Amino acid sequence: MSKILTIVVPTYNEGENPKRVITALKEALCERKFEVVFVDDSRDERSMQILAELAEESEQVRYIHREVERGLGTAVVRGFEEAKGNLIAVMDADLQHPPEVLNDMLEQIELGYDMVIPSRFVPGGDDGGLSSFRKFVSFTARVMGQFALKRVRPISDPTSGFFLIRKEVVEGVKLQPIGWKILIEILVRGNYDKVVEIPYRFQARIAGSSNMSLREQWNYLKHLTRLILDSPEDRRAYFFAAVGISGVVINMLVYTICVHLHMALWVSGITAGIVAMISNFVLNDRLTWFDSRSGQLWKRLFKYVVTSLIGIGINTGVLSVLAYGLHVHYIVANAIGIIVAMIWNFYVNNFWTWNIERQKTSVTVATVTLEQVNVKA
Ligand code: GDD
Ligand code: MN
Repeated sequence: MSKILTIVVPTYNEGENPKRVITALKEALCERKFEVVFVDDSRDERSMQILAELAEESEQVRYIHREVERGLGTAVVRGFEEAKGNLIAVMDADLQHPPEVLNDMLEQIELGYDMVIPSRFVPGGDDGGLSSFRKFVSFTARVMGQFALKRVRPISDPTSGFFLIRKEVVEGVKLQPIGWKILIEILVRGNYDKVVEIPYRFQARIAGSSNMSLREQWNYLKHLTRLILDSPEDRRAYFFAAVGISGVVINMLVYTICVHLHMALWVSGITAGIVAMISNFVLNDRLTWFDSRSGQLWKRLFKYVVTSLIGIGINTGVLSVLAYGLHVHYIVANAIGIIVAMIWNFYVNNFWTWNIERQKTSVTVATVTLEQVNVKA
């Protein structure tokens, strides 16, 4: 059972803080086997000197100093490369992440989880250590990540820099974070099935000051965009939606023209649908599913047309029921019809027209309450 734990700690001008971290870790982890890898981008002599001293004093401590490269995310990836352990934890150097929590995290790994994420936002958690402005920024970042990426959605604290993983989660995975949010990178690209969140209290910084900056917010946006483009399931959903919106505009235009030409609503609906369908097929084949264009074009077109025709049927049915039956405004009725048909179209085209394999492994996310964490003690 004795798995070796590597704790990766990124540092940037942290001064004396690494000393405090080592003392606190030794106290918290008692006789547990662990090593600490500091990945340091400091630009001041004193910080580097302290790390050198710590490494000198103890075999458990190593440090890597990077002269040229800088950045929290890439520092953590470098730490992974150096890690000797089969379990890897990441934590900040300023003790805002309480080392005692590592024991609870290790406990969850023993229970079979691949990834343990201490969270400030589950019952029993607390984000008290941040200013209200930082809390707001952090909230926005979190919600954006959850909205943008499917694998991040179920995680309550995905922007945190505190977590524990089995080495296999990142082994052989090409991680290329931009900026700070290494956990989001791992959530999207990593190999794992079971994740658990446990509550913890984020602490106030004891010394030094935060390195968060406007530049990091910008990096975060770039990072999210790259992850969407690199994660096929997310990319397809966004591209399909974008193509769909272009189709809606075309559909609405044609539909409105037809209605003004005194065509019946259902005829207008069919005509608008066909025009939009053709433009959507071309765009989806070129963009949304560009990487899954197997077989002959006409077969895909055939499947797409069949799917879309049924979609138009669904759209027309819905708009008829709404417009004739419930006296909903004809434009609104069509809009609702389009949404229902779009959902149908996405799934059928994904699994049939472009043959995407159904995801076999589904990620499960559990939450452990404070009581459950404490009971075992
Ligand atoms: N190697 C390296 N290079 N380390 C860095 C760099 C860098 O460019 N920038 C920051 N660090 C280190 C710091 O020395 C610290 O150990 C850790 O990364 C976090 O930096 P802080 O400056 O303390 O960040 P924070 O407290 O504002 O933000 C923390 O909490 C946020 C909310 O959970 C970080 O953990 C964020 O990732 C997290 O989103
Ligand atoms: Mn901090």
